[in-house]
Amino acid sequence: MNIHVATAPVPQNGAGTAAVPNSRQKILMCAPDHFGVNYVINPWMLGNRGRINHALSVRQWNNLRDAVAAHAEITLIEPQPNLPDMVFTANAGMVLGNVAVASRFRYSARQGEERFFCQWFEHNGFPLAPWPEDIFFEGAGDALLDRGQPLIWSGFGFRSDETAPAAHERIFKLPVIGLRLVNPRFYHLDTCFCPLEGGYLIYYPEAFDAASRAKIAASVAPEKRVAVAKEDAVQYACNAVDLDRHIFLNGASEELQEKLRAASFTPVIVPLSEFMRAGGGAKCLTLKLKES
Ligand code: ARG
Repeated sequence: MNIHVATAPVPQNGAGTAAVPNSRQKILMCAPDHFGVNYVINPWMLGNRGRINHALSVRQWNNLRDAVAAHAEITLIEPQPNLPDMVFTANAGMVLGNVAVASRFRYSARQGEERFFCQWFEHNGFPLAPWPEDIFFEGAGDALLDRGQPLIWSGFGFRSDETAPAAHERIFKLPVIGLRLVNPRFYHLDTCFCPLEGGYLIYYPEAFDAASRAKIAASVAPEKRVAVAKEDAVQYACNAVDLDRHIFLNGASEELQEKLRAASFTPVIVPLSEFMRAGGGAKCLTLKLKES
């Protein structure tokens, strides 16, 4: 196993001591049987067509699954041939309570995933809320719940449409803040923005336009906002899975890890190079199913 668990002091608030909290999270994943880079729909995929080391991708995915399984129950959806990006279950849809909204993918290369994810939601106790036919929306890749206040952060600009945030507000009856993504390498909100327990946030400011940066500054207190530098952003430090104050991510500088530890989080580095070639990291490979 090459999971590197960063050494960190046990948080003094007791949050890190309970191995299994009462409300254990449930996470949807999809094994990388058919994973590969077969087309190019984001800048990370450029030059990586046919260049995935399959055996390594399987080992990396297994490592992530095992690491996350210590803190959550993992549920699997069956991988499908010719849908190489189906491993990125964050894009299946968005779950809130026992209702889900299924994704409407922008690119035809991924639209074939929609029916499998819809079926999965319907057969597993998540009735689908109707979503407007004409609005692209790529699920929990672009819509993230704040972990400190009742609020949905909704990203648009590359994949999801600008009208998606208003649709979230109508469907979920929660305040929504729309954020415009402007850097093509950070084409989904979860590639550059990660709300953390206690209202903390790690994000890459350069991925957003000025108006969106101002909205973030107005809604998250300065001491809770961790802005990452490009060095961290490009190793997908913001594409993180947060569970029980552990933060699973592909990579993070020592400086960022230190900042996270100072806020009582434990960074856990889980290398995911093969998935990065497709433009995805730890968070993209997971979908939280217990969200409220
Ligand atoms: N190759 C996939 C795509 O371009 C990667 C998806 C990454 N998922 C995410 N939630 N950011 O759609």
